[in-house]
Amino acid sequence: MNSYLKLCTQLYDIDKPQAPAAALAFYRRYALAARGPILEPMCGSGRFLIPLLESGFEVDGTDASTHMLASCRSRCEARGLSPALYQQYLHELELPRRYGLIFIASSSLSLLIEPDQIRLSLRKLRAALQPGGRLVLEVERVKEEQATHEWPWSSGRRVDRPDGARILSSWQGRYDAAQRISYSLGRYELVKDGRLLETEIEDFNLRFYSAAEFGDLLRAAGFGDVRLLGDFGDGSSEPGDGSLLFEAAKTG
Ligand SMILES: C[S@@+](CC[C@H](N)C(=O)[O-])C[C@H]1O[C@@H](n2cnc3c(N)ncnc32)[C@H](O)[C@@H]1O
Repeated sequence: MNSYLKLCTQLYDIDKPQAPAAALAFYRRYALAARGPILEPMCGSGRFLIPLLESGFEVDGTDASTHMLASCRSRCEARGLSPALYQQYLHELELPRRYGLIFIASSSLSLLIEPDQIRLSLRKLRAALQPGGRLVLEVERVKEEQATHEWPWSSGRRVDRPDGARILSSWQGRYDAAQRISYSLGRYELVKDGRLLETEIEDFNLRFYSAAEFGDLLRAAGFGDVRLLGDFGDGSSEPGDGSLLFEAAKTG
């Protein structure tokens, strides 16, 4: 996988070490109601998984990135936690047990842009649930008014590593309004003592959905009780910035 490589993972962990409080509280409520173990696919370095484990929930995680998973493992080890973590692409999800709850936070599912892979992934998620189990996830919401446009290289984040080195990110890309996909390149640069030590260039693509479109995808994958949720239950008008929050169940 050409994303979530070493520098991206380091920047992510310094820049976003903790899950947003409202989102974590929201998934925690689902965890409390879950009948059976919990799975977090696309768990990254564990900013949702770890606090749930620390609260005593039984949570397994999967992710495609070796770097994000390695970070998750070492963060777990540092806290005396040893969850089952699997390196798997979502569309190849194959696990030894079934779950009462599966959640995918932070609109990570929108990172999948190929229609066949998305359909297959949703079917795999349904197969990984116990009968009656629930899927909760966020995806990026399309802004209907947004036309096709491009953006030149522009600076993103800048973080300082404990060893005094600095990681800079920058972005370049194009939004295709017909396909509702943004195709971006992320550039991560490691700088120390005024010298550029490493550069990593990553693909970063996102698919945006209307509520009707994503609801139909869930139903086509066999999910029942598909519900669009208005917010994280904290009174905010929408989850995150511009995402859609869905709940669905393995019925029938
Ligand atoms: C934005 S990060 C979010 C991680 C975590 N959900 C969080 O909020 O911290 C997205 C994660 O999805 C993983 N990912 C991207 N594409 C994937 C795929 N096709 N299958 C499995 N994991 C994938 C990346 O490696 C990355 O760790």
